[in-house]
Amino acid sequence: MAAPKKTMRALQYDKYGGGAEGLKHVEVPVPSPKKGEVLLKLEAASINPIDWKIQKGMVRPFLPRKFPFIPLGDMSGEVVELGSGVTNLKPGDKVISISFPNGGGLAEYAVAPASLTVARPPEMSAAEGASLPTAASTALQQLKAAGVSSFDGSGGSNGPKNVLVTAASGGVGHYAVQLAKLAGLHVTATCGARNLGLVRGLGADEVVDYKTPEGASLQSPSGRKYDAVMHCATGTPWSVFAPVLAGEATVVDVTPGIAAAAKSFLQKVTFAKQRLVPLILMPRKEEMEWLADMTRQGKLKTVVDSRYPLSRAQEAWAKSIGGHATGKIVVEMGGEDEE
Ligand SMILES: NC(=O)c1ccc[n+]([C@@H]2O[C@H](COP(=O)([O-])OP(=O)(O)OC[C@H]3O[C@@H](n4cnc5c(N)ncnc54)[C@H](OP(=O)(O)O)[C@@H]3O)[C@@H](O)[C@H]2O)c1
Repeated sequence: MAAPKKTMRALQYDKYGGGAEGLKHVEVPVPSPKKGEVLLKLEAASINPIDWKIQKGMVRPFLPRKFPFIPLGDMSGEVVELGSGVTNLKPGDKVISISFPNGGGLAEYAVAPASLTVARPPEMSAAEGASLPTAASTALQQLKAAGVSSFDGSGGSNGPKNVLVTAASGGVGHYAVQLAKLAGLHVTATCGARNLGLVRGLGADEVVDYKTPEGASLQSPSGRKYDAVMHCATGTPWSVFAPVLAGEATVVDVTPGIAAAAKSFLQKVTFAKQRLVPLILMPRKEEMEWLADMTRQGKLKTVVDSRYPLSRAQEAWAKSIGGHATGKIVVEMGGEDEE
């Protein structure tokens, strides 16, 4: 294991807006791990839409906490230094980590909280490891929020039986389809025409092109009503969900706008049986460990849309903003790009 350098290559932005052009290549000091943190030599990091939404100013004035800001919270690499108080990891460990909202992943080195850093099994590549934390944790928490408590294929006794996954070809959706199948549920999924086969291959029982009238109205080809929806697409009004839901149903929305939040509040206070539940990911170490183990066992696969070296990270950023990734977009720090 090489000793960390004093400076490193990174990409950062120094104001809101600007898209991919706003990301600048810089040489900056390698960060030092504080109490409870680890320093990682990064092998890969993955982009989530929240990363460029923060740059757009959609979480202004809370995030980013300061400029200039090195984005990306999902990362995979090797522990090179421990901050004080870290006892569960050691230099040389291969790990995956979430550093959100502090970011730092678009760089050769990054600090991450030890409390959200877990071992990366040898069966899992760095790209897969960097893909997993936010997207797969979100999918898992969506299913749990809908009442799914077991992922052993038994279908659970009281949880949902028929679920819909929207944007099933995306980072979150492609994990949601697989996790729902691990739970033994009947899965209907929406995606674009080019990804119908891929999503079927992930295990979905029925797949609908979202650009057809049936897809736009979220209808299941077999006429099933949904007990739960893992909603990963954006901008779907409640009036589209209502006709396709079972009498008691939960729509777990990871992209809620103001109208959705208001609808959710109203449904809660009126004890409605069909409920929209907004979800914001709360990362949990034990869930990341479980997801890594599912990958190790070959039960959970990561679809990588594309890989870019750090020198071409702006292209990766633009691809994510474009909204048409199939699976995850990964930036890799090693290989041809390394000094
Ligand atoms: N609340 C949270 O904590 C949380 C956590 C993670 C993610 N999110 C949010 O969840 C959303 C999804 O994230 P992601 O990483 O999965 O995004 P993503 O990977 O960028 O999603 C892109 C995919 O979505 C498909 N798609 C877009 N609109 C669709 C529609 N109306 N119906 C069906 N498919 C559609 C696209 O298909 P085509 O290319 O065919 O158009 C593409 O394959 C984002 O808005 C993200 O910010 C929230």
